[in-house]
Amino acid sequence: MFGRKKEKQRAQPYTRLAEIYDHVMRHVDYVQWADYIEAVFARHNLAPSRVLDLACGTGSLALELRKRHYRASGADGCREMLNVAIEKTRKAGQNVEYFHRNLQDLSGLPRFEAALCLYDSMNYLMTIEDVALALREVHRILLPNGIFVFDICTETNSLRYFRRLTDKDSGDGFTYVRESFYRNGIQFNRFDIRFKQTDESVEEEHRQRIYALSDILAALDQSPFTLEGTYDGFGFCGPDRDSDRVHFVLRKAGA
Ligand SMILES: C[S@@+](CC[C@H](N)C(=O)[O-])C[C@H]1O[C@@H](n2cnc3c(N)ncnc32)[C@H](O)[C@@H]1O
Repeated sequence: MFGRKKEKQRAQPYTRLAEIYDHVMRHVDYVQWADYIEAVFARHNLAPSRVLDLACGTGSLALELRKRHYRASGADGCREMLNVAIEKTRKAGQNVEYFHRNLQDLSGLPRFEAALCLYDSMNYLMTIEDVALALREVHRILLPNGIFVFDICTETNSLRYFRRLTDKDSGDGFTYVRESFYRNGIQFNRFDIRFKQTDESVEEEHRQRIYALSDILAALDQSPFTLEGTYDGFGFCGPDRDSDRVHFVLRKAGA
């Protein structure tokens, strides 16, 4: 007789996507990102040693920075993403320390000269109060004169690319369908992943708040940081209505 088809499981964001994240993100050039981050350091007169990549995911950027001789660390709220990062770092023969931390609670971390939070990770904070709390937490774990570089994805990005999009792909042992849509200021990405070996079907829904630039600027104004730069994604021009992504460079006051 035929076995019963297994029921689809619902998983928390990134807990199962972790296994296929590097495949889904294989178009991302983390080497170029590290180049950009180094250009930001130079432009803002910082030569950091200790750098923390927040919401580091599977550790690709932290690993690239480590290869460039930074004392790079990573932190992420998802244990499964960190497990992939740890294994990847071990295989690369590198030494990166990883911390399981939520952006809104960075207690117990050492101090860093620079912190990063890239690739729309701040958009996972669903309220502006959470953004404000994360800013205070990052400020606390930076050394005097340290900088925080983060990005957000904009409504232009959601409307341009993810208003309604379905894409399908497959890799070694899995297939997935991603449905993206944008509604009421929230970007939804729903992943349906099928793992062949275990015959599992898993659904993960990701929600990201798409903030107006003015809301972020107001939160920054209330934060303990000084805003030193606001840039159109991966560049040094100011953002405009056409910007898909905006980078912010914040400074903690010197001692
Ligand atoms: C789009 S991925 C980006 C990962 C990595 N920065 C990269 O560029 O590949 C978003 C990451 O943010 C993490 N994340 C989401 N909300 C978080 C939170 N509140 N605190 C810490 N990490 C969070 C997720 O676990 C995930 O690893």
